[in-house]
Amino acid sequence: MKILAIPASNSRKSINRQLLNYAATLLPDDTVELLDINDYPLPIYSEDVEAESGVPQPARDFLDKIAEADALLISYAEHNGSYTVAYKNLFDWASRLDRNVYQNKPIVMLATSPGPGGAGSVLGSAVNSAHFFSGEVRASLSVPSFYEHFDVEGGRLIDSELDASLREVLEHLSPVEVA
Ligand SMILES: Cc1cc2nc3c(=O)[nH]c(=O)nc-3n(C[C@H](O)[C@H](O)[C@H](O)COP(=O)(O)O)c2cc1C
Repeated sequence: MKILAIPASNSRKSINRQLLNYAATLLPDDTVELLDINDYPLPIYSEDVEAESGVPQPARDFLDKIAEADALLISYAEHNGSYTVAYKNLFDWASRLDRNVYQNKPIVMLATSPGPGGAGSVLGSAVNSAHFFSGEVRASLSVPSFYEHFDVEGGRLIDSELDASLREVLEHLSPVEVA
């Protein structure tokens, strides 16, 4: 079982990456690979650039990475109610090669932000639109007020209800066993 974990943020100290790092500790050893979208550098999507030079290789590499995975675990950062530009740009380029970006993979979608909304807006968009891109969303969870509920030093959720909810949604990445 190979689970590709994607923080949909290009921040080096991304809280969504921290959440995914913790989620990975709850899943069996060596099942999770944590992606860094900074490893897929691309110009800002433009129909003109695409017409002139085609789709750059990193977009193909991203699709190939998804193809290799058995399941996806994505955590969305929210900027002004929507996707980060970095993730949306990568997604848009990839969709030019194959609209089925998620390639029929089972997906658990997470999101977190420092505020009480927990990036729920972008999470809702991602969940509701996934089927257009051949994504099978099995479960989702928003973690609100990240810094109140997550021990950054210890790298773990400290709110027991949220922790239980996270373990529950991760169960949907079957057949893996959650700790
Ligand atoms: C341009 C910008 C817009 C933001 N808009 C939102 C927002 O709409 N909702 C929200 O909950 N947080 C918002 N935030 C705060 C982010 O949730 C916060 O920066 C968070 O750390 C982003 O996740 P990441 O650390 O994984 O990149 C915004 C931050 C930036 C820089």
